[in-house]
This record gives sequence, structure tokens and C-alpha cells, in this order.
Amino acid sequence: MQCARYVTSVSLNRTLRTYKYIHNFLNRNVYYKEFKNIWRRLYYTHRQSSPVILGIETSCDDTGAAVVDADGNILGEALHSQLQIHLEHGGIIPPIARDLHHKHIQGIVNMALERSQCELKDLSAIATTVKPGLPLSLSVGLKYSKQLVKETSKPFIPIHHMEAHALTARMVHNIEFPFLVLLASGGHCQLAIVRNVDDFLLLGSTLDDAPGEAFDKIARRLKLRNIPALSTVGGGQAIETLAKEGNSQAFNFPTPLSKYRDCNFSFAGLKFRAYKIITAEEKKHDIIGDLILPNVADICASFQHAIANHIVKRVHRALLFCELEELLPVNKKVLVVSGGVACNHYIRAVLKLVCDHIDFELVCPPPKLCTDNGIMIAWNGIERYKAGIGIAENLDEVDIQAKCPLGKDISKSVEELSIKFRNIKIKIPQKLICTITVINISYCS
Ligand code: KG4
Ligand code: ZN
Repeated sequence: MQCARYVTSVSLNRTLRTYKYIHNFLNRNVYYKEFKNIWRRLYYTHRQSSPVILGIETSCDDTGAAVVDADGNILGEALHSQLQIHLEHGGIIPPIARDLHHKHIQGIVNMALERSQCELKDLSAIATTVKPGLPLSLSVGLKYSKQLVKETSKPFIPIHHMEAHALTARMVHNIEFPFLVLLASGGHCQLAIVRNVDDFLLLGSTLDDAPGEAFDKIARRLKLRNIPALSTVGGGQAIETLAKEGNSQAFNFPTPLSKYRDCNFSFAGLKFRAYKIITAEEKKHDIIGDLILPNVADICASFQHAIANHIVKRVHRALLFCELEELLPVNKKVLVVSGGVACNHYIRAVLKLVCDHIDFELVCPPPKLCTDNGIMIAWNGIERYKAGIGIAENLDEVDIQAKCPLGKDISKSVEELSIKFRNIKIKIPQKLICTITVINISYCS
């Protein structure tokens, strides 16, 4: 694949050469000069509307870089995942994550550029995640990017990691603003209305753990790394895989925040309930050391079901809130689901059933674009560049932010409406999730 700007400049030069030839031949200086001016104007207009951006991501444990154009073409990308090292350490250790980003960032950026066949001079801008995330990890990306920006004199676009997760869907699907988004990852769980590139209304967020964090901790507690087929995958993916063989009704979990008619989330209670179940089951089955519980699949299926059940109820209220407040276009109401947990097919399937029930379109980016990557950062750069928003005026003033709100918080307005919904029963078809049982999710007010 060739870099868009490169293609443009090659064809520009070729065309200019042809016209120069004609000019010499006819010796009609006035026409040539005029054409050259028109062409130059066309070329610069095209360049403005067709930017090519390098995106750099280092907010957590993935070092990612990508070159993306204005049409959403991924010209080149590269990703280094630290997952294996963190699995060995039983979780992300920030100084180790920092050192690995430091070790790999140059190679990853070079690889993305090489694959795109772009040179630094071909870029319209450089976009980098600066918030929110692990401070030590974010610092590596920002320091590297500042150096690159100084060397190349390119514009710099600081990126909000969650904004990037939310906008990725627009790169692969035709989605207009406004739309509703659920962002579920290892560090966040947020529901927001996306009214524009940088205009979000936050309906709710997690009060404690993020769902990905809960998945990862329970996978660790269940020692899923000791199962050879799951030794190299992340916690959420390991639980999803085992859940396919389990009974999601085997263990009872409470529904978090059931008394609160808002769109906030809480996963800590589900995590502690899972810890309690695991400890009791280990005692019952005499499990010690590295041994795995015989009913591990049932625990995974029940835990995954509990997480899905909680998420879908809060999302249902958000969908109803958007309808009541007429916040989305009547003829195209879209729910986008993104972030690492959006890779989970069971959660996707449950959300799809609720969306179908109240006439929303569910859009999930492909799993590769749901987890952290450089592509989403480059695309967010494209969105901002095209809209002329958020290009840093003073590079020295740009800094990282470990925590950062996503738009305007209107969660109190959601709570005030106190939306109560009727019980609905959703049957999850067996073929979608490959479980033995057909599950009913029962909604209570
Ligand atoms: O968005 P992401 O790549 O990084 C953060 O910004 O946090 O999300 C990573 C999280 C991890 O906690 C991982 O366990 C979870 O996404 N995840 C999943 C699945 N794949 C990744 N959770 C549930 N089911 C999955 N299939
Ligand atoms: Zn993320």
C-alpha cells in the first residue's frame, strides 16, 4: 500500500512535467503559469482534506504505532504486547511496563512507517496518547513523540485514550454523530453520548473496578495460566473460552447497584463474590497449589454471565434515557461498544438482543481494534485534524494526565429521571455462545 500523500506528489510532479513540456512546445508561458497555480491550489486543498497521521499508543501495556489516512486506510501498523511478561508477574508492574515501552517504541514506530511506505516528511501530524493511563507508560510515549515532533516540525495532537476507543468505530463503519458508546476495558467502564469528536456527555461510569480488571483478577485467582491452552492469553479471553463449556446458572451472583436507577457500574462486589465462591469450592474439592478446580468452567460461565447481566441493565437504562431525552436521531439510534472487554462475544450477544428489543443498531469494531493499538490513536488524530480541534499550540505545555474525565458528566440528570424498566426476558441462542443451557436474563426494576 502506498502513502496517499506520496501518491499525490508523484502524480503532481508527473503532471507538472507534462505541462512543462507542452509549455515549452507551445511557448505559451501565460497558460502554463496559470495551470500550475490552479494545480498547486488543488494539491494543497487535497492535502488539507486528506491528511496522513502517525499514531502512538503507550498508555498501559501495549506499545502501538500506526499510519492512517483520512479515508480510514491503515497504511501501516505495528504493535508490541507486554502481556506475556505481565502474566508471568501476575499483573502489570508499572516500572517494567515503562522499561518495555522504552525498549520497543523506536522499533515499533519504524516498523509502522516502513509498512506504510511513508517517510516522516510525508506525515501531516503526529498523534499520541497523553491521558488517561499509567503515568510511567504515558511518559515514554509523550517524551518520544515530543522529540519526533521537534525533529520533524510536524503538528502534534495529544489524544485522550478513551476518546480514541470511542471513535474507532467511525473508521470502519459509517456512523454519524451523535451516538451512544459503552467503553469497557481493563481500566474503565463508561457510558457516554458522543456528540462530536471532542464533545461527550458522560451518563455513567464504574464506581470501583473496571470489568476487564475483574476478569483478569478472577482468571489469576483461578490459575487459568496453568491450563496450557490458556497460558498465553489475557484473563478476559481465558474466562470467555472456558465459559463456553460451563453452565452460567451454576453459581448465583447478586446484581450490583440494583437499587440505583442510574447508569453507573460496580464490579468489585461481583469480584469478591467470585473470590468467595472459589475459596469455598477449593475447600470442597481439596484443591491445593497449582491444581485447577474441576468445575472451573461453571465458575467462569457464571461470572461472565453476572458481568454481562450487570452491563446490559445499565446500558438498557442508557438507551431509554437517550430515547426519553431525544438525544439520538430517531431514524438511526446507534450503540457503539469498544475497549478490550468488547471483544467478549457473550457480552456482545447479550447487548445485541437488548438493542434489537428497542430498535438500536449495535456496532462493535473488530476485536483487533477494540483492544489497545496505535490505529485508534492515529484515527483519533485524523478526526481531530480534519475538525481542526486539539492541535497543540505549545509543545512544551503538553503533559500526561493519569486520570482525566471524558466530557461533561450528566450522570446526575440520569439519576434524577429515575428510569424504571419493565421486566423483559431475553433468550440467548445457544449457537451464539455455545453454552449447554439457554439462559434467560430477567430484568427487574
Ligand atoms: O482496552 P484494553 O486493551 O486496555 C485498556 O485500556 O485497559 O482492554 C484490556 C482488557 C483486559 O482487562 C482484558 O482482560 C480485557 O480487556 N479483555 C476481555 C476480552 N479480551 C480482552 N475481557 C473479556 N472478554 C474478552 N474476550
Ligand atoms: Zn484501552
